Amino acid sequence: MRRKSGSGPRLVSARACQAVLDRGQALDEVLASLLDDIDDGRDRALARRLAHGVLRDWPALDSMIRQLVERPLGKGDRLIHFVLAVALHELRDGREPDRAVVHVAVEAAGGFRGGRLRGLVNAVLRNFLRRRDVLEASIAEDPVLASGYPRWLIDRITTDWPEQGEAILAAGNAVPPLWLRVNRRRWSRDEALGALEAAGFAAHAPARFADALVLEERARVSDLPGFADGALSVQDGAAQLVAEELALADGLRVLDACASPGGKSGHMLERADVDLTALDIDGDRLKRVGENLERLGFEAQLEAGDAADPQAWWDGRQFDRILIDAPCSASGVIRRHPDIRWLRRAADIDALVATQCAMLDALWPLLKPDGILVYATCSVLVAENAGQIQSFLERHADARVIDHPELPGRADEPGRQLLPGDEDCDGFYCLAARRLR
Ligand SMILES: C[S@@+](CC[C@H](N)C(=O)[O-])C[C@H]1O[C@@H](n2cnc3c(N)ncnc32)[C@H](O)[C@@H]1O
Repeated sequence: MRRKSGSGPRLVSARACQAVLDRGQALDEVLASLLDDIDDGRDRALARRLAHGVLRDWPALDSMIRQLVERPLGKGDRLIHFVLAVALHELRDGREPDRAVVHVAVEAAGGFRGGRLRGLVNAVLRNFLRRRDVLEASIAEDPVLASGYPRWLIDRITTDWPEQGEAILAAGNAVPPLWLRVNRRRWSRDEALGALEAAGFAAHAPARFADALVLEERARVSDLPGFADGALSVQDGAAQLVAEELALADGLRVLDACASPGGKSGHMLERADVDLTALDIDGDRLKRVGENLERLGFEAQLEAGDAADPQAWWDGRQFDRILIDAPCSASGVIRRHPDIRWLRRAADIDALVATQCAMLDALWPLLKPDGILVYATCSVLVAENAGQIQSFLERHADARVIDHPELPGRADEPGRQLLPGDEDCDGFYCLAARRLR
């Protein structure tokens, strides 16, 4: 029998979207606290999926609601605007029967302001069902409404990637696969694959990613065999390539300059017994590096500090390897974090580029001669990637790019770029440079 899911998950997704869009809060943080109110794992997954869907389609949903309500809802009734957005998203998505979607949205409105907006919710949704063809046609003509991105980001992406721009925007609206990283100190990829399959999780091992498995269907991570004790971690394939670029070996002194929450720190330690310093400017986030490394059974020296100001934290001993996994627009991971397109502003990009540039210049002298610095972003914007590194190379005559033609990604002169969806990965940029003697 089909399981009935009620208004609880819909209200949670409505509240989460309101927190992102009206108050500028990050979706993952909001959901982390709101989902505590839902006991059933399937309802939690539903609330998350609906919030993602609404944030992906927000301009179209918002525009339709404005056309469908007679008067805009007052500030105090704003939550109902988001309840309607969740319901419209479900009606357009078509997984549930129309009647059930309308029924549950009216029920959700019933718990709010003594239920006086139930009639309005019912009328708006029935009006949508009557006029949907005309409304959908009006949306298809407007690039912001049709793509679900703010104008400035559409312009930046299509200017940087004139041929691939449309595909990048579409890939950011797709549901991403769940990539896993196998801790090969514990077991081989084949053993991990076998254990997953025995536990009912179908997966495959992508040939060009040495440590990766991709699940065929989404699953709760904590249910996966090996996750709790650190034999498996969640990490996109693109991010796993950083460990290859770093060319790690036992005994090397390594700085992970933007380490939190510790995904790449963990991978480095799985690959080799390195002497790792994990730095992050955010002391609270740095605690998560400690927790994540503990799950994997590793330790590192944790430092809270500004990568662009080493004098405040550096002990004066140079590093063999430096990773700058820089703060960036995150324009390559919008498929995982649909809130990014609404939280980032056009003006943020220049500030991010300046921060990345300051980190590169401040950390380069901390690298030993013959050492390797890897610069990475989860961005698709040229100013943060090839443009940033081009000017770095002009400022530092002792830096030589190391090519990795064997690794996935487009040669991006200099560096390698994966666009979202390439090899099923997130958008990602990576460059390795050796410091000449
Ligand atoms: C892309 S995330 C790093 C992800 C991490 N490397 C991983 O794999 O889990 C960027 C990190 O840079 C940190 N950060 C931002 N500005 C910084 C600065 N000036 N110095 C050091 N860390 C900084 C942020 O707090 C954030 O944790």
